[in-house]
Amino acid sequence: MDEDRRMLPAADVPADGTVLVTLRPVGDVSVETGDRGADGDELEAMLIALADGIACYRNYCQHWTDVRIDSGDGAAVRNGEILCEKHGAYFESGTGVCTFGPCEGAVLDAVEVAVRDGDVVLSDPDYAFVRLGPAERPDVEGGSRIDFTGS
Ligand code: FES
Repeated sequence: MDEDRRMLPAADVPADGTVLVTLRPVGDVSVETGDRGADGDELEAMLIALADGIACYRNYCQHWTDVRIDSGDGAAVRNGEILCEKHGAYFESGTGVCTFGPCEGAVLDAVEVAVRDGDVVLSDPDYAFVRLGPAERPDVEGGSRIDFTGS
């Protein structure tokens, strides 16, 4: 397995939230979605810990596909389900199936990952790993942010 497909330690992925990673499509996958980065060549996916591993899904809702579920600080998770706060859809963290909400029965777009030697590894041949964190987005200015201390 290529070192550049290792993303982060599995222990750093929460079960009560999600972690964003940036990927690049290298296979036949949709890019016309809300998780697309500014240049259209990067996509976001969100990782969530399960009782027996890690799940990974593209970061767009099945209701309105231009809506990101994790807006950068981790998606809300309630009772093992990922919440899209836009209209309240719940998705099972282990399957991606929407159990409640306007897209009930739809399934999040899964990305294959595995845990090897304690690290989360991108095992999906349709994507390449770019970096931890969100894709550069057209609606977010790059560079530093000023925190509440003013620094
Ligand atoms: S956009 Fe996610 S529930 Fe409507």
